[in-house]
Amino acid sequence: MGGAFEPARGRAAAGLNPRAAAHRMLGEVRRGTRSDRAASRILPAVDPADRGLALDIAFGCLRLRARLDAWIGACADRPPARMDRAVRDWLRIGAYQLTELRTPDHAAVGETVGAARSALGRGRAGYVNAVLRALARRRDGDSGAGPDALAAAGPFPDPDVDPVGHLSSWGSHPEWLVRRWLARWELADVRRLVEQQNRAPDVVVRLLTGDDPAPPDGVELDPVPGWPRSFRLEKGLPGTALSGLRAVIQDPAASAVVDYVGGRLGEPVLDVCAAPGTKALGLAAAYGVPVVALDISHRRLARLGAPARRLGLPVSAAVADARRLPVAEAGTVLADVPCTGTGVLRRRADARWRLEQRSLDDLVALQREIVDACAAAVRPGGLLVYSTCSLEREENEEQVDAFLDRRPDYRREPHPEGARGDCTTPRGDLFVRPWLTGTDGAYAARLRRIA
Ligand SMILES: C[S@@+](CC[C@H](N)C(=O)[O-])C[C@H]1O[C@@H](n2cnc3c(N)ncnc32)[C@H](O)[C@@H]1O
Repeated sequence: MGGAFEPARGRAAAGLNPRAAAHRMLGEVRRGTRSDRAASRILPAVDPADRGLALDIAFGCLRLRARLDAWIGACADRPPARMDRAVRDWLRIGAYQLTELRTPDHAAVGETVGAARSALGRGRAGYVNAVLRALARRRDGDSGAGPDALAAAGPFPDPDVDPVGHLSSWGSHPEWLVRRWLARWELADVRRLVEQQNRAPDVVVRLLTGDDPAPPDGVELDPVPGWPRSFRLEKGLPGTALSGLRAVIQDPAASAVVDYVGGRLGEPVLDVCAAPGTKALGLAAAYGVPVVALDISHRRLARLGAPARRLGLPVSAAVADARRLPVAEAGTVLADVPCTGTGVLRRRADARWRLEQRSLDDLVALQREIVDACAAAVRPGGLLVYSTCSLEREENEEQVDAFLDRRPDYRREPHPEGARGDCTTPRGDLFVRPWLTGTDGAYAARLRRIA
């Protein structure tokens, strides 16, 4: 539902209605709060039994915003962009239940309008009621069937005639991103990518040992096909699963980056953009070496302490700016740089709507500064591993190519043994494409300092 998000424990004070909670989360995100922070703040006020529904509705409304707005626009007297924002959020909440959750009409409309009435008053709640009732009729008239029929019959452009229109409305992704992806990949692949980014991610547990997992009571794990040591959490909470396993919560794409570092390291690794630290823990466990974990964010880095102690791994943490590294020399450096995260959009429900071309350009400039500072710290013969969770060329291979032009004392290394063929590029970089693997996206390059 909400990925690895695990709400704070504790009794719900007043048992906030789940739809009202979803509405509050949408309001906070509109005012600039990140979706996971909004959820952490608001969910503790919801009865534990209703938290899953509140989270599903809120994150679903964020991911599928453009799809829901197309439905709403087709059934209202004005486009959603011209609606009162609080009203529009209630409409999205109702539309999500009607078209995605397939909640029976009386509950989807009745419960939503009831919650909206307490917040908006009778008049505006009456408008929400009228639009949602029209939407329920329109949806039934269009199909009464599953999502494929809805995609074909609802108020969405035909993908073969107008692929950009289809993927930015039904696909609910910003048009500029859709255009970039269509210029690069087949329509069928971009459709799969977009659909995958629209679904809530599974919680995946990565074992740090080669043993068969013996999960604690109440926890069920299923192997993820093609990813040894990765298991989908079928039942139980992430915290309970970790309490009985030598493991971290990590998507297979992130685990692939740890494996891609490769070889025998034999000396401490410097992880310069490390927080919250799952790769740092994975590196220490997989290669049996100490890891020095640096990050600019004290708050994010603080999340590394407890798991490192629980697992007894030699990971030490310090706040530092990777553009001005406080380290003279290192044998292996991992730079898992800040990026647009276009390979992990399903995890950050609101992220796609914050991104713009300018954020990409700013991040590319920051990544360049970080990789240059790291390059200066790697000793001759040492290895610099550059990685992102982006799918964009500018942040990945083009960033690496430009680096290699600036630094002729580095060369690209081939991928290490055991890398999956469908996750490596012809030049040996790691490139995990979500539509091929069913995982997050990730990129990494191994850069050896030769002089
Ligand atoms: C992709 S995340 C790292 C994820 C981490 N490697 C892991 O596996 O858990 C990027 C990190 O870069 C950090 N960051 C951003 N700018 C930085 C800078 N100038 N110096 C160091 N860290 C920075 C962010 O705080 C964020 O934690």
